[in-house]
Amino acid sequence: MEIFIRQISEKDVFPVAALCGQLGYDLSIDQTRENIKAVLSTNNHDGFVVVFGEEIIGWIGVGVAIQIESPACCEIRGLVVDDRYRNRGVGKMLVEKAKQWCHEKGYKSLRLRCNMKRTQTHLFYQHLNFRVVKEQKVFEIETG
Ligand SMILES: CC(C)(COP(=O)(O)OP(=O)(O)OC[C@H]1O[C@@H](n2cnc3c(N)ncnc32)[C@H](O)[C@@H]1OP(=O)(O)O)[C@@H](O)C(=O)NCCC(=O)NCCS
Repeated sequence: MEIFIRQISEKDVFPVAALCGQLGYDLSIDQTRENIKAVLSTNNHDGFVVVFGEEIIGWIGVGVAIQIESPACCEIRGLVVDDRYRNRGVGKMLVEKAKQWCHEKGYKSLRLRCNMKRTQTHLFYQHLNFRVVKEQKVFEIETG
């Protein structure tokens, strides 16, 4: 069966939401649709899905990270491969797509943040030659 990557679309909302669940985020269909629309509404973000036959079996989000203290770069904002299709090169395909997107936008580096508990995923990224450059805590406060 054919396997290929294409840009994410609102039509992908059901499989994308299901894959968000596998990533540990239980989003409603409406919220997932809003998020896809928001990603597609700016030049600084994008999303891609892997299509295998009739199925969406993975997705990646990528965006430009602009900050004051260092040069802008690109960031992988989310990545998941359907657990029935892992260890077949699909995650690597999606990371390559994000690298290509970053290069085409003219940025020199691609980074990502990954939960400390995802130890297997750290090995995946290191296998793909990403280096650990720092460790962080994420803080949050309610504002509304
Ligand atoms: C992380 C994840 C996206 C990897 O996708 P995948 O399709 O299973 O990975 P691939 O098959 O493309 O692996 C690519 C390469 O990494 C290697 N690799 C994968 N997992 C590895 C691990 N735990 N340790 C060492 N190498 C690993 C593969 O052997 C393969 O090597 P090769 O190219 O030399 O053959 C997938 O496991 C996943 O969705 N995990 C849960 C969600 C998650 O952690 N998302 C990332 C959040 S930041």
